[in-house]
Amino acid sequence: MKQILYTESEQETEKFGRTLAEKLREGSVVALCGELGTGKTTLVRGIARGLGVKGYVKSPSFTIVHIYRGGRLPLYHIDLYRVEPDELSTIEFEEYVWSQGVCVIEWAEKMKHLLPENTIYIHITHEGENRRKIELRNGGL
Ligand SMILES: Nc1ncnc2c1ncn2[C@@H]1O[C@H](COP(=O)(O)OP(=O)(O)OP(=O)(O)O)[C@@H](O)[C@H]1O
Ligand SMILES: [Mg+2]
Repeated sequence: MKQILYTESEQETEKFGRTLAEKLREGSVVALCGELGTGKTTLVRGIARGLGVKGYVKSPSFTIVHIYRGGRLPLYHIDLYRVEPDELSTIEFEEYVWSQGVCVIEWAEKMKHLLPENTIYIHITHEGENRRKIELRNGGL
């Protein structure tokens, strides 16, 4: 399945995340790819709201993994921005990627060789100050 959509504001991207959350199941993995400031964290915030997680979702700048409970499913928010390729092996992804929850990964291109086959890939591209192109694909990168 491939889907392309455009958003014109941060709020619209968040809303897309809320809608996407309804389709997520135990063990779903969402790989977010896109340059700095394209809206990856905004999308994660939408997913969190859609799952019913309370509280504000922030960029996990110094913590690589944030766990949000209290929603329909646990949410594991991973941000690989500051992770070097040789550090990947020190992170125990298995418990998040093969979990009972939903795992959403920013800068997921860094660990594509470790992602399950049924991963949902989302590429966000900056198209203008407030305009973003969002491409969603299931499986295979
Ligand atoms: N259509 C849009 N969708 C999402 N964010 C938008 C949009 N238009 C403008 N923005 C702005 O772009 C920024 C997106 O920030 P966000 O932290 O979500 O990006 P990010 O991809 O997670 O960045 P980083 O790579 O630093 O983690 C916010 O400042 C937001 O207000
Ligand atoms: Mg971010």
